[in-house]
Amino acid sequence: MASGRIWIRGGRVLDPSTGRDEVADLLVEDGKIAAVGAGLAASGGEVLEAAGAWVVPGFIDLHVHLREPGQEYKEDIASGGRAAVAGGFSAVVCMANTQPANDDPSVTEYILDRARQESPARVYPVGAATRGLAGEVMTEMVALVDAGCVALSDDGKTIMDSGVMRRVFEYSQLARVAIITHAEDRTLVREGVVNEGPVSTRLGLPGNPSIAEVIHVARDLMLAELAGAHLHVAHVSTAGAVDLIRRARERGVHVTAEVTPHHLALTDEATLGYDTNTKMAPPLRSETDMRACRAGLADGTLDAIATDHAPHAVHEKDVEFTAAPPGVIGLETAVPVTLDLVRANELAPLEWVRRLSTNPARIIHRAGGSLAVGAAADIALVDPERRWIYDPAKGFSKSRNSPWAGREMIGCAIATLVGGVLVWDVERGVLLP
Ligand code: DOR
Repeated sequence: MASGRIWIRGGRVLDPSTGRDEVADLLVEDGKIAAVGAGLAASGGEVLEAAGAWVVPGFIDLHVHLREPGQEYKEDIASGGRAAVAGGFSAVVCMANTQPANDDPSVTEYILDRARQESPARVYPVGAATRGLAGEVMTEMVALVDAGCVALSDDGKTIMDSGVMRRVFEYSQLARVAIITHAEDRTLVREGVVNEGPVSTRLGLPGNPSIAEVIHVARDLMLAELAGAHLHVAHVSTAGAVDLIRRARERGVHVTAEVTPHHLALTDEATLGYDTNTKMAPPLRSETDMRACRAGLADGTLDAIATDHAPHAVHEKDVEFTAAPPGVIGLETAVPVTLDLVRANELAPLEWVRRLSTNPARIIHRAGGSLAVGAAADIALVDPERRWIYDPAKGFSKSRNSPWAGREMIGCAIATLVGGVLVWDVERGVLLP
């Protein structure tokens, strides 16, 4: 994906990989960053005026459900890729719970092939850890990674059998990738659909207790430590899990973790209207849990912000709360929702970018998250002040299941480049290469 010459002029360049935070110009040439500095003299090529905007390495979402193959009525690689770049993401990591599951190199190759043809964003598949995500028989991990998978996970399903989980961690050492875990003990969740507590009592809905997550994170930390493996905890939602991860990291366990925009911004109170667009797994938690997630993100215990973009069709969500599938879309709203932490002075701009870009790249061992000279020109321009009303029907995702519908948003990605090609411009829309 080569490009001509693009000058990005006068923006606030935020690059966690070098610590740069200053107003500067940036020259993109042949798909790479060719120069960064104040007062570069533009000559030839396209000019993007970035005064007032933040110029950052393109965001990398570690947790996206693209639904292809198998459930293209919810999303596909093309629509998900467009939603990604419109949200400032130059790359997405797509989860294995497709139909069929990505438990075989042929599925991985299919996803990568479709992505090359259809997606303006880079797509990095996650392979299943067990066949059919059934939690019983391990996949051919090395073959999946050789085919292009960047991590392994049964996300959406928890591997309940501790013996299987131990072997998954042990064999992941050969594949040299992280095991991403969906930490919810099914025997404690049972029929729970909202956080167990005063809100579930008021709603009269079965509760999903926070201990279901905490106990599983404890087990997985111990098993990963035993195997010397890399555990990546998906969508952390509880104060207890944040605390366990912090302490495990201190004693040297190779653990990384992510948190979603919705768990940083909403509590279970948001479910009081029975809106199924506030139903997700794990559920929205208490104020204490949300505060602990924000603090964990700020102190670096939680390495990454990942959306868990989980599209579901209107007819699937427009049912009783107990019958609706869990999940919300998030690619097009992650920037404004999480900028709230910057506005609240809980996260410096450079640290916000680190958690959306530099850290995710490190976790999957892929290039990205850097604006250093010579790096691939995956870049986002963010206007942190721009106000807009979010209407999912006007977005790029095929689905509309967002808790933010109709809300005023502050901040958005105004341009996204992938490999030096401008693929998103807020005035012109998605520009396919
Ligand atoms: O809310 C969720 N939805 N959580 C998951 O782990 C799976 C996801 C989905 O695939 O819909």
